[in-house]
Amino acid sequence: MSNDRVLRVGLLGAGNVGAEVARLMVANQQDLAARSGVGLVITKIAVRDLNVPRPGIDSSLLTNDADSVVSDPSIDLIIEVIGGVEPARTLILKAMSNGKAVVTANKALLAKHGAELFHASDLADVDFYYEAAVAGAIPILRPLAESLVGDRVQRVMGIINGTTNYILTKMHETGASFDGALAEAQSLGYAESDPTADVDGFDAAAKAAILAGLAFHTQVTDADVYREGIRGITADDVSVAKAMGFVIKLLAIAEANELHGSKEETISVRVHPTMIPLTHPLASVRESFNAVFVKCESAGDLMFYGRGAGGTPTASAILGDLVAVARNRNEGSLGPTETDYADLDIAPIGVSRTRYLIRMDVADVPGVLASVASTVAKNNVSILTVRQEGRGADAELVVLTHVATESALANTLKDLQQLDVVKQVVSMIRVEGLMS
Ligand code: HSE
Repeated sequence: MSNDRVLRVGLLGAGNVGAEVARLMVANQQDLAARSGVGLVITKIAVRDLNVPRPGIDSSLLTNDADSVVSDPSIDLIIEVIGGVEPARTLILKAMSNGKAVVTANKALLAKHGAELFHASDLADVDFYYEAAVAGAIPILRPLAESLVGDRVQRVMGIINGTTNYILTKMHETGASFDGALAEAQSLGYAESDPTADVDGFDAAAKAAILAGLAFHTQVTDADVYREGIRGITADDVSVAKAMGFVIKLLAIAEANELHGSKEETISVRVHPTMIPLTHPLASVRESFNAVFVKCESAGDLMFYGRGAGGTPTASAILGDLVAVARNRNEGSLGPTETDYADLDIAPIGVSRTRYLIRMDVADVPGVLASVASTVAKNNVSILTVRQEGRGADAELVVLTHVATESALANTLKDLQQLDVVKQVVSMIRVEGLMS
């Protein structure tokens, strides 16, 4: 094989994902070369600590000098699986300015500095691929950017954090508390000892920003995403939802807002616990699996399902990118670049429209329903169903609304709190996936 029939790869990071990339590049060497039209060879691997044992990895490739990898003129392509913003950002920018294509799985970096990285890859005329950054093994970014680019995406709604989906699945199926389900997820290695990034929705928000940017041809950063995590979800919330035929999921939703009076089209991007009917396709996504539901003007509803994390599934997406870049290089071409031509405004959360389930502790006295109903109506929110259960002198009132704006709902909650008959608004959970 002559020199120009080889693509030399520098790998930044050899953790869970990096080690699997290295292993699969050797194990599937011949198939990958046949599909790429060139041999794919790992030339250097940058790691933080050279002393960590790395079975199956040729130790002569290891260096703790990541800069030497992105500066090495013999390397054609960098795979970045260090994660986090720095030093990944600086290393990727340097690799690009040195003419290297880049493949990354780094959602946090893309969600904060995507525009800078896309611009740098354009300037340097190099490929920049990142399928693994959202929903691990699931091919979702390329379908949005390429297969569906002839259509108009109206909405993307996904379960894109496996840790929270595992916790919520356990709460739904066993009646566990949030703390109990989190402890189980931690003991099984699904949740980190500091679970903040997952349970508070930061991980899902970063992925939501990337999905929204591609779906709506607009620059979206993690700061544009409205975010609520699942820490506040109680076993009671889950059991009320279940009794009503719903399951609670942490959903990421990016959608075009309907033009209600405003002239400019805007989008909303939000991550929050959401009740969906048990019959909705996303309700069947259990444990640590991910799924992304896409609604398009012409294609209608599509769903992409699979493993959203883990070394081997994530490596699958990275190797797909690697082969794509190798094929582009053979043809002297580049893959499609980002489009942000639409440049849509991201609406504040108050503009978003959905349904809501409000649980209240109320006094069980005549006229309660009437005063709750008139308070809700006064705020232009319409009630779909009401459920009441007596508990001695008190009762729990569960109100499911029709679609209303977040600002109308916020005002409703404020007014309900003021009513003498309402002892406490216990919880409010958004509801998606109802047809009427
Ligand atoms: N911690 C993430 C999850 C995986 O639970 O889905 C990496 O994004």
